[in-house]
Amino acid sequence: MALQNDKQSTNLLHSQAHIWNHIFSFINSMSLKCAIQLQIPDIINRHGAPMSLSELVEALSINKERAPFVYRLMRILVHSGFFSISTTRDHEKKEKEGYLLAPASRFLLKEEPLSIRPFLLAMLDPILMDPWHHMSTWFQNDDVNPFHTTHGSNLWDLAGQDPNLNQFFNEAMGSDARLVTSVVLKHRHVFENLNSIVDVGGGTGTVAKAIADAFSDVSCICFDLPHVVDGLVGSYKNLSYVAGDMFHAIPKADAVLLKWILHDWSDEECIKILMKCKEAIPSKKNGGKVIIIDMVLKKDEEDKDFVETQLFFDMLMMTLTTGKERSEKDWAKLFFDAAFTGYKITPILGLRSLIEVYP
Ligand SMILES: C[S@@+](CC[C@H](N)C(=O)[O-])C[C@H]1O[C@@H](n2cnc3c(N)ncnc32)[C@H](O)[C@@H]1O
Repeated sequence: MALQNDKQSTNLLHSQAHIWNHIFSFINSMSLKCAIQLQIPDIINRHGAPMSLSELVEALSINKERAPFVYRLMRILVHSGFFSISTTRDHEKKEKEGYLLAPASRFLLKEEPLSIRPFLLAMLDPILMDPWHHMSTWFQNDDVNPFHTTHGSNLWDLAGQDPNLNQFFNEAMGSDARLVTSVVLKHRHVFENLNSIVDVGGGTGTVAKAIADAFSDVSCICFDLPHVVDGLVGSYKNLSYVAGDMFHAIPKADAVLLKWILHDWSDEECIKILMKCKEAIPSKKNGGKVIIIDMVLKKDEEDKDFVETQLFFDMLMMTLTTGKERSEKDWAKLFFDAAFTGYKITPILGLRSLIEVYP
């Protein structure tokens, strides 16, 4: 069909570019994953100065004939803001270009204590990526989520059967927990006046350990499924591990912490979990509370990347779990439906917030 005027052709080509950009946006994450697997950020960091392409190729454990392809991999990663190029002069005063880390790549280093590397490798592992290919099938069947359509099991059960998934998932969560606690523990008032706290779905105990260390008179429990905590021993005298199922019973404490738990579950499941939390804590008058770390979807947020990333997480929850990301209105409804009397949202965690909920 011939297009009638220039405006129509401009629109067509604009739409084509927009569609192409979306078709290929996976190339950003896959290129980054490749760079991490080849340890490119670590190698450039260790070099300690702008690193030329030939120095980088020499340092990489790769087929050395791949040099031109390394250039192309680095070009897209420079474009997406993970590396920068600096121009210096060598001893013969000749101009020399070299790669440097951009600020975000610090958090992809292996040795960086707040590294996001384990989270990246887990989220881009085929076990968690394959369900995206089955989303449309899931829309037509009655499985709980595309993860179930793909693997015939839910994420938590499969993690109980597959030690590799269990390990990389727990490491991913641990890395995020380190980053989050480095911010949350600056807000000491959240934990003051507590004698005890239970981190429900606390993984291998990164958050519980940090609280036990920072508040030596607060007794901390890391509570999770048996395949996550069995065999783990508290490294502080005020830290213990308890295995169980939060839908059955939660160990008693002054406060329950739910970090990245409720977004994994449907409203009905969240109300059950919150009611179990309420049974585990004292009244508001006696200092009982639930501390939630999760996203609060922003209605009027102008930062497009911020909104897009929150929507990515919402789709991630739809694909891997029965959960979703929630607006303040959604959260308030959950809290009141579970018979809590009030809540306070403190947006101290970037895309996520700290929410204190009172019985
Ligand atoms: C998304 S991870 C969050 C881990 C940790 N809170 C964090 O943010 O680093 C969810 C956790 O909930 C745990 N979990 C799932 N079902 C559970 C259940 N029925 N009872 C207790 N923990 C459960 C999982 O094993 C996993 O460690």
